[in-house]
Amino acid sequence: MSLAFLLSLANILILAAAQLRPGFYSKTCPDAEYIVRRVMKKAMEVEVRSVASIMRLQFHDCFVNGCDASLLLDDTPDMLGEKLALSNINSLRSYEVIDEVKEALERTCPEIVSCADILVMAARDAVVLSGGPNWQVKLGRRDSLTARQEDSNEIMPSPRANASYLISLFNKFNLSIKDLVALSGSHSVGKGRCFSVVFRLYNQSGSGKPDPAFDPRYREKLDKLCPLGGDENVTVDLDATPEIFDNQYFKDLVHGQGFLNSDQNLFTNEKTREYVKQFSANQSEFFRAFVEGMIKMGDLQSGRPGEIRRNCRVVNFRSLDILLDDEGK
Ligand code: HEM
Ligand SMILES: *[C@@H]1O[C@H](CO)[C@@H](O)[C@H](O)[C@H]1NC(C)=O
Ligand SMILES: *[C@@H]1O[C@H](CO)[C@@H](O)[C@H](O)[C@H]1NC(C)=O
Ligand SMILES: *[C@@H]1O[C@H](CO)[C@@H](O)[C@H](O)[C@H]1NC(C)=O
Ligand SMILES: *[C@@H]1O[C@H](CO)[C@@H](O)[C@H](O)[C@H]1NC(C)=O
Ligand SMILES: *[C@@H]1O[C@H](CO)[C@@H](O)[C@H](O)[C@H]1NC(C)=O
Repeated sequence: MSLAFLLSLANILILAAAQLRPGFYSKTCPDAEYIVRRVMKKAMEVEVRSVASIMRLQFHDCFVNGCDASLLLDDTPDMLGEKLALSNINSLRSYEVIDEVKEALERTCPEIVSCADILVMAARDAVVLSGGPNWQVKLGRRDSLTARQEDSNEIMPSPRANASYLISLFNKFNLSIKDLVALSGSHSVGKGRCFSVVFRLYNQSGSGKPDPAFDPRYREKLDKLCPLGGDENVTVDLDATPEIFDNQYFKDLVHGQGFLNSDQNLFTNEKTREYVKQFSANQSEFFRAFVEGMIKMGDLQSGRPGEIRRNCRVVNFRSLDILLDDEGK
C-alpha cells in the first residue's frame, strides 16, 4: 500500500461529527468564502434562478443523513445516489455551479474545503445575492463516503404534504414550527414545475376538484400555465417576486396565492398561520427567523466517517474493496 493511500485512509477515518465553527478555513484557505461568493455571483449573472436552485440543495442535503454532500454523489454501478430520488429527479438543478466552486477552491487550496461546506456557504450567498439577510456560517463539515436513494425517498416531503405532516417531519430534526414556516420562506425565490401543482388544480385529495384554498384569480392563471394533460415540466414562479428574497411569499399565502400545497397549507393550518401572518407583516422578523432556521438546519450531522472530496460528484476512493483489489494486483 502506498503512503498516499494510508494518509488518505487516515483522512477519511475522521468522524463527520465535527465541531462546526465560523472561520474554520481562516488559516488553511482564507479566501474560501470569497471564492464561493465570486462563483455564485457569476452564476447569477448567467442565470438568476441558479442561486435559488442552489439554496434548495442545502435543504435536500442536510435532511438526508446530515449536511454531508451525500446529495452531490453521482450514481455508480454499486450505489444509487440521491440525485434520482423522488423529490430530486428532473427537479434539482445547478449542480454544475457547485462543481465550478469546487474547481476554483481546488486550484487555490486543494483538498481543504468540503463539498458539504460549499453547499452551506453557497446557500447563504444565494440568499444574500437575492436581497436577503447575510450571516456567518459555521464550517468544518466532512463529505460522506456514500449515499442512499431510499433515505431521500423516505424523508424528503412531497409538494402535496400538509402543514401537520411537515410540523412532525421538521420536529424530527429538532426544527420548530416557526423554523418550518421561516424556512418555507425560501420559496420566495425560484420556480416549481406544473408537475408539483396539477393535482392541486384538478384533483385535490382525490376530490376531482381544485384545492378550495386557491384564490380563484390565481387558480385561473395557473390553469392556463398548467392545463390538465399539458407539459408538466413547464415552470412557474413560486411567488410574485421570484428573483428577490423578501417576504412576498408570505403575503401571497395570506391571499391564497401560494403555489405548492405545502405552501398554502401553512396558512390553512392554525399552528402555522400565526407565523405566516407575522412574517407577511414584518420582513425583518422573517429574516431573523430564516437565518436561525438555516443555521439549525446546517448543524444537522450524520456522525459517520467523512473525507474532503476532491470532486463533489465522487468519493476519493469508490470503495476500499476496489482499492484493495487494485493494490493487491
Ligand atoms: C417545507 C417543506 C418543503 C417542501 C414540501 C418543498 C417542496 C418544493 C417543491 C415541490 C419545489 C418545486 C420543485 C419542482 O416542481 O421541480 C421546491 C422548490 C424550491 N424549494 Fe422547496 N420545499 C420545502 C422546503 C424548502 C426549504 C427548507 C428550502 C430551503 C431552505 C427550500 C428551497 C426551495 C427553493 C429555493 C426552490 C426553488 C428552486 C428552483 O427554482 O430551482 N424548500 N420546493
Ligand atoms: C396531513 O397529511 C397526513 C399524511 O399524508 C394525513 O395522514 C393527514 O390526514 C393530513 N391531515 C390533514 C389535516 O389533512
Ligand atoms: C434533537 O435533539 C436531541 C436532544 O438534544 C438530540 O438527542 C437529537 O440527536 C437531536 N436530533 C437531531 C436530528 O439532531
Ligand atoms: C383523482 O384522484 C383519485 C384518488 O387519488 C383517483 O382515484 C381519481 O381517478 C383521480 N381523478 C382524476 C380525474 O384524475
Ligand atoms: C420532463 O423532462 C424530463 C427530462 O427532461 C423527462 O424525462 C420527463 O419525462 C419529463 N416529464 C414530464 C412529466 O413531461
Ligand atoms: C419586526 O421584527 C423586528 C425583528 O424581530 C422587531 O425588532 C420589530 O419590533 C418588529 N416590528 C414590528 C412593527 O412589529
